[in-house]
Amino acid sequence: MEMLFLLLIFSAETLGLDPCDNYTVLDNAWRATSNRVSSTVMCDRNVQWVGWYRLFLNDRSAQMSDTCVKENICGTHATLWLNGQHPRMEDGAVTRDVCGSWNNNCCYFKSTPINVKACPGQYYIYELKSPIGCHFAYCAVIDECGIMCGPNAFCHNNNGSISCSCLGGYIATNMNEMISRNNPCTDVDECQASPSVCGPNAYCTNVKGGYNCSCSEGFSATFPDLIISINNICMAPKKQIVRLGLKSGQNVNDPAVMKDILQSVCCLSHN
Ligand SMILES: *[C@@H]1O[C@H](CO)[C@@H](O)[C@H](O)[C@H]1NC(C)=O
Ligand SMILES: *[C@@H]1O[C@H](CO)[C@@H](O)[C@H](O)[C@H]1NC(C)=O
Ligand SMILES: *[C@@H]1O[C@H](CO)[C@@H](O)[C@H](O)[C@H]1NC(C)=O
Repeated sequence: MEMLFLLLIFSAETLGLDPCDNYTVLDNAWRATSNRVSSTVMCDRNVQWVGWYRLFLNDRSAQMSDTCVKENICGTHATLWLNGQHPRMEDGAVTRDVCGSWNNNCCYFKSTPINVKACPGQYYIYELKSPIGCHFAYCAVIDECGIMCGPNAFCHNNNGSISCSCLGGYIATNMNEMISRNNPCTDVDECQASPSVCGPNAYCTNVKGGYNCSCSEGFSATFPDLIISINNICMAPKKQIVRLGLKSGQNVNDPAVMKDILQSVCCLSHN
């Protein structure tokens, strides 16, 4: 039973989604820096913020301003902007201070810090938090580079000259034309393109930007903490693993013990 429990923990871990694949779209035209405050003054303290957000302005990919913005724009009074640079992809999630512009002072208010992350495809996501008061709201600016290439693409801005390339697992809809918003990158069906990608005793499910291998009923991955692939194939009936169990004195959390047992199962079933 302990072995089965351990296998379940491994699969639960792989299910935790990268926030780049699990964000809420926040498309409020009033957040634009071009928007002067109107009769309705917005306040982001009235929003129940949960998880990560990606900004859009009328369907166009947008980002927070990381330079000072004036007060009384973005449909609010105290305008919120990111006091620090946007991170690169390799930086992962970083925490940044948030300033509220007011009283002719770019950082008159120090609002709640937030987490920021760069995602594949040249856009940013923000773990937005309730600001310190009203009326405060997060400002959005159009991300000129991101809108050129459409979704699922890298955008390269080389001194104003923009070029696009598809993310791994995607190809241009029309391979003979330049990648753009009108000729976006689309998913490749790896399962159809190369039916053996998952190895034996497995079936393949196409997912966006990749594929997902699952073991056929009764089989399990050689190393359950690694992704099933041609290099980590499905074998050894589960029942056999459970029967082997743990010897007395062995620690269930010791990866070496786990590997040992799995290896013996693997090679027994091969003979
Ligand atoms: C997606 O994000 C929400 C909000 O943070 C979170 O509650 C949920 O568990 C996430 N889902 C997955 C599968 O990671
Ligand atoms: C970028 O382009 C401008 C205008 O074409 C040019 O003056 C400038 O030197 C270029 N900068 C770099 C770093 O190449
Ligand atoms: C991948 O396959 C596993 C095992 O069948 C499943 O639990 C998981 O939800 C799948 N993931 C996606 C993104 O389809």
